[in-house]
Amino acid sequence: MKTEVVKITAESENGAYKKAAELLNDEQVVGMPTETVYGLAGNAFSPVAVNRIFEAKGRPTDNPLIVHVSKFEDIYDLVKAVPESAKKLAEKFWPGPLTVILPKADKVPYCTTGNLDTVAVRCPSHPVARRLIELSGLPLAAPSANLSGKPSPTRAEHVYEDLNGRIPLVIDGGESEEGVESTVISLVGEKPRLLRPGNVTLNELKSVLGEVEVDNAVLNPLKKDEKVSSPGMKYKHYSPEAEIILVRGDYKGFCDYVNANSSDDVYAMVFDDEGRELNIPFICYGHEDYKLLAHSLFDTLRELDKKGAKRCFVRYPDEHNDDNLAVLNRLLRAAGFKVIDV
Ligand code: TXA
Ligand code: MG
Repeated sequence: MKTEVVKITAESENGAYKKAAELLNDEQVVGMPTETVYGLAGNAFSPVAVNRIFEAKGRPTDNPLIVHVSKFEDIYDLVKAVPESAKKLAEKFWPGPLTVILPKADKVPYCTTGNLDTVAVRCPSHPVARRLIELSGLPLAAPSANLSGKPSPTRAEHVYEDLNGRIPLVIDGGESEEGVESTVISLVGEKPRLLRPGNVTLNELKSVLGEVEVDNAVLNPLKKDEKVSSPGMKYKHYSPEAEIILVRGDYKGFCDYVNANSSDDVYAMVFDDEGRELNIPFICYGHEDYKLLAHSLFDTLRELDKKGAKRCFVRYPDEHNDDNLAVLNRLLRAAGFKVIDV
């Protein structure tokens, strides 16, 4: 299959969207920009389309997909009932990087939800994604558009790198603004539970819901036989080819450790304005501001592979700041939880 990449903006005329909308209505899959990361979209009600998504990504079929809608009311087609908590969250954070999990409506096929009785729903803010959902007239199931296990794509080129020859079309809507996937919160248990941190922060969720539990798997490796709240937690994630090692401590300790352990093809990932003291090549991945770190995290991980890095020592964001949860969660997974204290 030849993979076409087409540049589209929010202002492009409808014709530019037509091909994508036709493919989606024909149970095909399309790479689509969102404000978080690029998604691989297909009709959420079509088992044929959904299976194509799993196949193109090489994703285990028990790992459920997020369904994207363009307006709040469309959630009623997807879930059994909408609790007050979901309404409040949507009012504050939709459209935007927040996914809510609720009991699924009967007509949502089990292949979309990885055989669960719940469904994940999100209303993205990216104007191209929104227009595509509207024009196709479909709720769009869309996991991140990377090969399973790889860092999520934040540019159309990343989608092309991973899925060239596997999907018919990638819509290039420019770089994803946020850079990490949406916050995922489950509203099915007694208390709201954060399953995946994102740029809607824990503190923001608490400001709307009061108490919010944080799932153990957000910052910890799964224990043997631990029951997972979100199947995605089981799988290896966000891994570039390079071995990622997190180094926790102050900058001086980081430099001393890295300089003592440097060798060929070893890189460092540091905060902006750092690195001059290192005797190995380094890449800066933002200030110690969670939104800036998130923005360039996946791009930087992919960059390491392009440079041929075998190993990378990474500066550890401040873990006492809950706003850093999203970046920490992705880094810990990329590193397979390898952390060195200096
Ligand atoms: O920002 C995002 O959320 C991006 C863009 C494309 O919207 N999408 C995305 O999808 O990150 P994906 O499939 O890469 O991650 C979805 C996560 C997985 O960890 C999955 O296990 C979890 O959400 N998930 C989906 N449905 C669930 C459900 N019913 N119960 C628990 N976890 C669920
Ligand atoms: Mg993903």
